[in-house]
Amino acid sequence: MTRRSVIIGTGSALPARAVSNAEMAKIVETSDEWIVDRSGIRNRHFAGPSETTGTLATEAAKRALVAAGIDGSTIDLIVLATTTPDQTFPAVATIVQNEIGANGCVAFDVQAVCSGFLYALGTADAMLRTGMATRALVIGAETMSRILDFEDRGTCVLFGDGAGAIVLEAQESDAADARGIIATKLHADGAHNEMLNVDGGPSTTGTVGKIRMRGNQVFKHAVNNLASVLSEVLEMAGIEPAAIDWVVPHQANARIIEGTAKKLGLPMDRVIMTVDQHANTSAASVPLALDLAVRDGRIKPGQLVVLEAMGGGFTWGATVLRM
Ligand code: UT7
Repeated sequence: MTRRSVIIGTGSALPARAVSNAEMAKIVETSDEWIVDRSGIRNRHFAGPSETTGTLATEAAKRALVAAGIDGSTIDLIVLATTTPDQTFPAVATIVQNEIGANGCVAFDVQAVCSGFLYALGTADAMLRTGMATRALVIGAETMSRILDFEDRGTCVLFGDGAGAIVLEAQESDAADARGIIATKLHADGAHNEMLNVDGGPSTTGTVGKIRMRGNQVFKHAVNNLASVLSEVLEMAGIEPAAIDWVVPHQANARIIEGTAKKLGLPMDRVIMTVDQHANTSAASVPLALDLAVRDGRIKPGQLVVLEAMGGGFTWGATVLRM
């Protein structure tokens, strides 16, 4: 029997405060028209003083546990993707662990910026398939607003805060249409550090730093890298693009999402788009979009879904799964 990692529940959380483009235009010299035209973003959420990556991650995790109908104490692995942890250490995963009563299980963070959720999912899937764990929480959670330079209009209008979580369970089946993760492909290329980074860190400036991005250069790499990793992962899975029910892309820019779908010949009515509501929530964007589409009934059990993301590093990746 083949052991696969099956999604048995999803959840998400957003900060209470929603911030429109009109509000951003009071902070920097920009306009609703420019932001919508260049990125597709209309709204984002910013965490208040009592909201952190840890509180958002915990809320999303608890909702995923309720959706799965299981208790937190039955989780034996937590992998959390974030680039904006509450503390430099310990890992945010251990904060979630304590809040959901899964004390004692494996819990750690991964750092792959906007591709973080894909990296976390690939890691958890490998650990589940090799028997190191049986039920995992995989979380993407960010408070990007804490590392935005609100004097840089080229970046501060593009990001938002939020969290998304899934519960993965190891299940055995040899059925051709078995649920679970089918294939994952991940990449990184450290040659492009200066195109997208944060200008600080514990070991250099001793500060957290702020996001710096050469947006139009990142844009070109994003469309090419995403189209090629999608082709790679579909080939690994032996699946034609036409068989895909839904693509859940990283939500950085509507034009990147449309450009990638076009390269693969995928119609936009099979692509989940939330960038207008959430902006770029980095590692949280894919699980946030997934949860939204599961809860509104678009993504259904048994359907073929592709997840993809690209971010700082550069890092990029894609996963094919049957819900
Ligand atoms: O999640 C990680 C991956 N990140 C991404 O995938 C982001 C990729 N990049 C992008 O999404 C786009 O490049 C942006 C949305 C960031 C920018 O769009 P663009 O079409 O590439 O614009 P640009 O950077 O080439 O800037 C065009 C103009 C510039 O003015 P000049 O030099 O042409 O006079 C900018 O100064 O737009 C100006 N500009 C703005 N104007 C109004 C930059 N930011 C703003 C702003 N409001 N917020």
